[in-house]
Amino acid sequence: MTVHQLIYASRPFGFDEAVLNGILVGARRYNAEHDITGALICRADLYLQLLEGPDETVKALYRQITTDNRHVEVEQLLSRSADQRMFPDWAMLHDPAKSWLWNAEEISDGALRRASEEEIVAVFERSAKDAAP
Ligand SMILES: Cc1cc2nc3c(=O)[nH]c(=O)nc-3n(C[C@H](O)[C@H](O)[C@H](O)COP(=O)(O)O)c2cc1C
Repeated sequence: MTVHQLIYASRPFGFDEAVLNGILVGARRYNAEHDITGALICRADLYLQLLEGPDETVKALYRQITTDNRHVEVEQLLSRSADQRMFPDWAMLHDPAKSWLWNAEEISDGALRRASEEEIVAVFERSAKDAAP
């Protein structure tokens, strides 16, 4: 069964533990009820999220997320259909950004806009591999 996958990046606005937890609790509840899975890679300067699920559900959620004032500069990096999910077991995996990711300076310097779709997808493949039991 094909699913739609969408990846975007944004800059957190008012980022702290409580804000992040609020996002995750709400996201996991909604996603579980709507057949959406994915991962949210985050740190103070960056949200990088993959959403996957039914085409229209994913696109509608993304539109909703772009209006959320807990982040700014939301930029879509990938939108494609895929044969299988990358995070079938995760309503929304929370992955604190790892040392191997682009650093804050590279991000503010436009590293994500320059990255190829393959490089962006590779970030989530690595995250999914790390999360596997
Ligand atoms: C970085 C980020 C990621 C989010 N991810 C999700 C998500 O995966 N699922 C979800 O339902 N809401 C997510 N949200 C929250 C939505 O933007 C929105 O608050 C939620 O859909 C509830 O909307 P409502 O309060 O208007 O009903 C996210 C918000 C941010 C800032």
